[in-house]
Amino acid sequence: MKLFDVYPLYDIEPVRAEGEFLWDSKGDRYLDLYGGHAVISIGHSHPYYIQKVTEQLNKIGFYSNSVNIPLQKELADKLGLISGYNDYSLFLINSGAEAVENALKLASFKTGKKKVLAFSKAFHGRTSAAVEVTENLAIQAPINRNGHCVFHPLNKIDGLEAHFLQGDLSSVIIEGIQGVAGVNVPDNDFLKKIRSLCSKHKVVLILDEIQSGHGRSGKFFAHQHADVKADIICMAKGMGNGFPIGGILISPDFEASHGLLGTTFGGNHLACAAAIAVLDVIRSENLIKHAGEIAVPFSQELESMPGVTEVRGKGLMIGIEFDYNIDKLRKKLLFSHQIFTGNSSNKNTIRILPTLNISSSSLDMFLEALKKEVSVVV
Ligand SMILES: Cc1ncc(COP(=O)(O)O)c(C=O)c1O
Repeated sequence: MKLFDVYPLYDIEPVRAEGEFLWDSKGDRYLDLYGGHAVISIGHSHPYYIQKVTEQLNKIGFYSNSVNIPLQKELADKLGLISGYNDYSLFLINSGAEAVENALKLASFKTGKKKVLAFSKAFHGRTSAAVEVTENLAIQAPINRNGHCVFHPLNKIDGLEAHFLQGDLSSVIIEGIQGVAGVNVPDNDFLKKIRSLCSKHKVVLILDEIQSGHGRSGKFFAHQHADVKADIICMAKGMGNGFPIGGILISPDFEASHGLLGTTFGGNHLACAAAIAVLDVIRSENLIKHAGEIAVPFSQELESMPGVTEVRGKGLMIGIEFDYNIDKLRKKLLFSHQIFTGNSSNKNTIRILPTLNISSSSLDMFLEALKKEVSVVV
């Protein structure tokens, strides 16, 4: 049987990984500044993570949500503590799109309304409601176009309240930092305005922290830089460091009832063990602080590179915009310097999403390679 061919592939086969490095089947080492779409938070094959997941696998890997799974409570307690959202509740699923899907659904259950306000260039996933609030017609099938979503330009306060005045909004969904779009940061004032409009008009505020969360921005959630609170927060990616897990944090204003939400795999023993190990490492290695601090001199260096027009982001979620298409440059970095970087829907922007415990010598390796290549590409 052949694979359904939806992914353009690099001819590279990683067979081993450690920290911020990968090794391919030929024995070549690669610096990973992308973490497989922002997934690798505490580093590849972290020894504590391996130990915790292995120990759990040797005990019990899975049972469904019809029995007590105390690991779920341990994960919820640790998430509450590290995020500051300790009065919220946790619902666990397996991916980012599922987190968004359940958040939108919960908002709609609560308000009895259908409409969602999302933002230009947003990416929230590929399942039914998630892709409808994603501004990319190319990945929406006719079945996804139900007229539920209205898009507004990011950071434009003008005209924002008009959407609320229609009276049909159930929720507003916004990324803590737009990732796929090329690392666009919502202004603090913009987030504060959305928060106040949601409270005034009784609309649910959903923060999608799937890419920007788990410490990447230098705070546990990126929206916490703006000092606002969300009603529902979506998590995935870095949450499991490669083990598929997603979750939503739900404000105490929402009432749970049996059967309201559900999943077979969500919250299984192995996934919880992985997510707990991630939080333990983030805390014990002080990775949120590290992500915030190490990014400052790195971003300053990037700003002075020839051809760079803007460096956007917070912490270790960085978009480097050039005054030309970066396709060739990324290929050079990968094939001549063995460095993985990310692209984005902004064709001039490279996305950098490394492990949160990356060393400055690894970031220097990238700067050296980039210096060499930009002088050639420009
Ligand atoms: C902000 C954001 N939300 C949602 C998703 C969807 O996550 P998943 O691919 O795990 O379904 C992504 C994936 O890139 C994302 O970046």
